[in-house]
Amino acid sequence: MKPELKDKIKTIRHDYTKHQLLEENITSDPFIQFGIWLHEAFENGDEAANAFTLSTVNEFNEPSSRIVLLRDVSHGGFTFFTNYASHKGRDMEKNKHVSLLFFWKELQRQVRIEGTVEFLSEEESVSYFNSRPRESQLAALASQQSEVISNREELDHFFLNVTKLYADKEVPKPNHWGGYVVIPTKMEFWQGRASRLHDRIQFTLINNSWKIERLSP
Ligand SMILES: Cc1cc2nc3c(=O)[nH]c(=O)nc-3n(C[C@H](O)[C@H](O)[C@H](O)COP(=O)(O)O)c2cc1C
Repeated sequence: MKPELKDKIKTIRHDYTKHQLLEENITSDPFIQFGIWLHEAFENGDEAANAFTLSTVNEFNEPSSRIVLLRDVSHGGFTFFTNYASHKGRDMEKNKHVSLLFFWKELQRQVRIEGTVEFLSEEESVSYFNSRPRESQLAALASQQSEVISNREELDHFFLNVTKLYADKEVPKPNHWGGYVVIPTKMEFWQGRASRLHDRIQFTLINNSWKIERLSP
């Protein structure tokens, strides 16, 4: 790493002064609070506001994270779509516990969610797959997500093959592709504040109701 860069990451500091999160202003339902913050992130110009870090843990307790896109909030959970046979899919087959992390930089906010995954119904996965652009549908067929491939040409070749195979035909959803719903048991709303005295409000699901607590920053 360049010395200037080393210096930069050691010394760069931000003070967070844009907003505050007080108990009297938060909703008692964390899903409603999440909706308000997601809406505000989009309104504030964050085109990738629905992107989040999904962390999974495999059968050997090894964690792994990547970005995916939130596509729905319903059925009491957060929906995303992926390849069931991918690295993350294999992790979730063995271990249903996952964490989600949203970071809305401009609003100086993060939301942490912990919970367990369930499969979205096949009907809903098909319905969402059919709503995707044709190229994305073909790509889902062409890509064996997370598998090693020889080179870029191999991928382009697979894509060309499925494009020919389904020319003038509807692209069927592959069996290995679909949605997951994350059912949360904990959700934390973090609002950056001045002097590192950030606001952290945590919702914990206990006997079907959400307990609200403030955490120390
Ligand atoms: C902005 C962004 C959005 C992404 N959205 C998705 C998504 O919705 N689903 C998905 O499977 N991968 C998505 N990816 C790719 C994943 O980060 C990851 O590379 C891929 O899912 C393979 O992960 P895995 O090998 O850990 O299973 C996205 C990546 C970025 C940067």
